[in-house]
Amino acid sequence: MNQEKREHWKSQIGFILASAGSAIGLGSIWRFPYITGEYGGGAFVIVYLVCIVLIGIPVMLCEFALGRRTQRDPVGAYAALSGNNRFWKLVGFMGVASGFIILAYYSVVGGWTIAYTLKSLTGQIAQFTTPDSAWQEFLSFTAHPLWPLFFHAVFMVLCVAVVYGGVRKGIERVNDVLMPALFVILIAMIIRALTLPGAGAGVEFFLKPDFSKLTAKAWLIAIGHGFFTLSLGMGAMITYGSYVDRKTDLWSATLWIIFLDTAVSMMAGLAIFPVVFAMGADPAGGPGLIFKVLPAVFNKMPGGTYLWSTLFFFLLVIAALASGLSLLEVVTAHLVDKGYDRKKTAVWAGFLIFLLGIPCSLSFGVLSEYKIFGRNFFDTLDYFAANILLPLGGLLVCVFVGWVWGSSHSFHEIASGSEEVHEHKHKWLKCWSFFVRYLTPLAMAVVFIVSAGVMKVE
Ligand code: PHE
Repeated sequence: MNQEKREHWKSQIGFILASAGSAIGLGSIWRFPYITGEYGGGAFVIVYLVCIVLIGIPVMLCEFALGRRTQRDPVGAYAALSGNNRFWKLVGFMGVASGFIILAYYSVVGGWTIAYTLKSLTGQIAQFTTPDSAWQEFLSFTAHPLWPLFFHAVFMVLCVAVVYGGVRKGIERVNDVLMPALFVILIAMIIRALTLPGAGAGVEFFLKPDFSKLTAKAWLIAIGHGFFTLSLGMGAMITYGSYVDRKTDLWSATLWIIFLDTAVSMMAGLAIFPVVFAMGADPAGGPGLIFKVLPAVFNKMPGGTYLWSTLFFFLLVIAALASGLSLLEVVTAHLVDKGYDRKKTAVWAGFLIFLLGIPCSLSFGVLSEYKIFGRNFFDTLDYFAANILLPLGGLLVCVFVGWVWGSSHSFHEIASGSEEVHEHKHKWLKCWSFFVRYLTPLAMAVVFIVSAGVMKVE
C-alpha cells in the first residue's frame, strides 16, 4: 500500500468541504425541495432524516473506512481487502463505471446551468416574463445542436482543470472557495425570499406536515434520493476517503458532511418556494421548476431584475461543479492508482466522458426520437445509474464491509482518530455490527429490488 506516496487532504476541514461539495449538487438544490413539497412537507423531512440515519450514515462510514484503510481507488480497495477476489474487484469497477456514466449526463445539465448564468448576466433571461415563454426558450435552447454541447464541453473543461491540479492544489483548494461562496449566496437568497410579501404560503407548501402523503413510495423516494444526494454507492466517498490520514475523525466528518448536505437542501427549499408563491407561480417539478418557473419569477422580483437569477444559476453552477469533479476524480484515481500520469489521465478521461455526453445532450434535440425501452439516451443513463448501479453499489459495499472485511476490523478503522467512538467502544461496536451486517443491507436490498423495477410500489 502506497501510504507514503499518496497525497492527503491538508486539513480535516478541507476533507469535509470537498466531500460536502460532492454531496451538495443538483440533487440537493432542485430535487429535494420539489420531492419534499410533493410527498408530505415536514412529514417527508422526518422520513428523510430517518433514512439518512439508517442508511446514509452507515454507508458513508463504510466507504470512508474502506478508502482510508486501503489508501486506494475503489477497485484497489476491494482488491486489497478481499485477497484480490475477482467478484469484489468487479464491484469496485462498477463504481468507476458509474462515475463515468453519471458524469456524462450530469455535465450536460451542468452546461445548462453555465449557459443560464450567462443568459442571466447578459439580460436575456429578463425577456421571459411568463413561465410559458421561459419554457419555450428552454426547449429551444436544449434542442439546439451546438450550444448545449459547447457548454457541456465548458463544464467538462472546468472539471478537468481542477482534477488536473491534484487533491490539495486542485480539489481541496477549489472547494475551500466554492463551498463558502455557495452558503453566502444561499443565505442572501433566503433573506430576500422570506422578506417578500406572501412568502409564508411557500414555506407552508414546503414544510407543512401532511402525514397522509407518507406512502411506501415516499419512503423509497427518500432513500433513493438520500443515496444520490450523498454521492454514495459508487466509490466517490471511497476515493475521497483514500486521501484521509489516520489522525482524521471519520465519524465526526461524516456527521458534518451529512449535516451540510441536508442543511443546503432545506435552505434551497426556503429560498425557492417563498419566491414562487409570493409571485403567484405554480410550483412545478424538477427541471420545470428551475428553467420554466424561476426565470419568469425572478423577473418580477423587486431588487434588481436579473441579479437574483444570476445568483441562483451561479449557485447551481457551483453545486454542479463540486459534484462533477468528484465524479471525474473517481475515474481518474482508478487510473492513477494503476500507474498512469494524473494530468494526462484527467484530460483523457474528461474527453471520453465528454464524448459519451454528446448523445445525452442531443437527446433533447436531433436524437429525441431514438428511444431505448421508451427512454431517450439521457434518461436511459440516468435510470441505469440512479436506479440500478447506485443502490446495488450501496448494498454491496455494506455486505463487503459487514461480512467480508468484517464489522470489527472496519470498526477499528472508524475508531482510529475518533475519541468519541473510542471512548464507548463496546457499545458502538455492537451497534455498528447490527447496522452494517443486518439493518442497512436489508433496507438496501429492498430499495434495489424496487428501484430496479423487479417489484412495484405505489
Ligand atoms: N450528490 C450529487 C448531487 O446531489 C450527485 C452525485 C452522485 C455526485 C454521485 C457524485 C456521486 O447532485
